[in-house]
Amino acid sequence: MEKLYPESGVELNPFVLKHYDKLMNIISFGRYKSFIHQAISDMKIQKEDSILDFGCGTGRNACLMMKYMDDQGFITGLDISDEMEKQFKENCRQHPNTEFLNHRIDQPFQLDKNYDKVFISFVLHGFPQNIRENIIHNAFNHLKPGGSFNILDFGEFNMHDMPFYYRIPFQKGECPYAFDFIERDLKEMLSGFGFGEFKEHLYFHNYGRLMVAHKASET
Ligand SMILES: C[S@@+](CC[C@H](N)C(=O)[O-])C[C@H]1O[C@@H](n2cnc3c(N)ncnc32)[C@H](O)[C@@H]1O
Repeated sequence: MEKLYPESGVELNPFVLKHYDKLMNIISFGRYKSFIHQAISDMKIQKEDSILDFGCGTGRNACLMMKYMDDQGFITGLDISDEMEKQFKENCRQHPNTEFLNHRIDQPFQLDKNYDKVFISFVLHGFPQNIRENIIHNAFNHLKPGGSFNILDFGEFNMHDMPFYYRIPFQKGECPYAFDFIERDLKEMLSGFGFGEFKEHLYFHNYGRLMVAHKASET
C-alpha cells in the first residue's frame, strides 16, 4: 500500500504487518503482554461499553478489552490494512460483538453511531501534527457525551535523558514524527478540542502513557 505520510512508522510495511504481535513481544523483551494487560485494565472498561478502536491492528487489544465486557458490549476496529483485517477477524472470531471496518482515521468520516470510548494505541505519534489534530477531532465526534478518549502511546520525555540502551533503539527505530510527539503537551492539545477531566497512567519509566480524556456530559 502506498504511504500517505512517507516518514510515518505506523503505516507499516508488509513484513511488520504480518508479524506485528510477535515483533512487539521481541522488541519489548517479552514485557509487552503484561504492559498491555495493565493499560487495558486502567481504562476501567464497563461491561456494556461500546469502544471504537482507531488503528486497531491485529485485534489483540480488542480481545483483551472484550474480557471486561458482556454481550451488551461492542467493539468496532478501524484500520487501513488488509493484513490487519485478516488477523483481526481470525483473532476475534470468538467474539461476535466485534467488527472490523477498513477505514482511515486521519480524514473526516462519519459512522452511524457514537461510542462510550475511543481507544488508540501506538498510532497517534506516527503522524504530522495537523493529521494528529484530525484524528483527535474524529475521536471527539464519535464519542457520546461523557465518553472518554483513551490514548495509549509514548509519554512526554526528553529523548536525550534516556539511558543509551533505550535511546539508541528509539532513535534508530522510531519515525521522526515520534520525536516531535514526545515533546508536545498532550493535555493542551486535547483541551483545544473540548476534552477535559484528564487521567494519566504511566508505564516503562514514564516512556509509555495512557491518557484518558473526557468529553463533557450534556447538562
Ligand atoms: C503501530 S500499529 C498499532 C496497532 C494496534 N493499535 C496495537 O496497539 O497493537 C499501527 C496501526 O495503525 C494502522 N494505521 C496506520 N495508518 C492508519 C490510518 N490512516 N487509518 C487507520 N489505521 C491506520 C496500521 O495499519 C497499523 O495496524
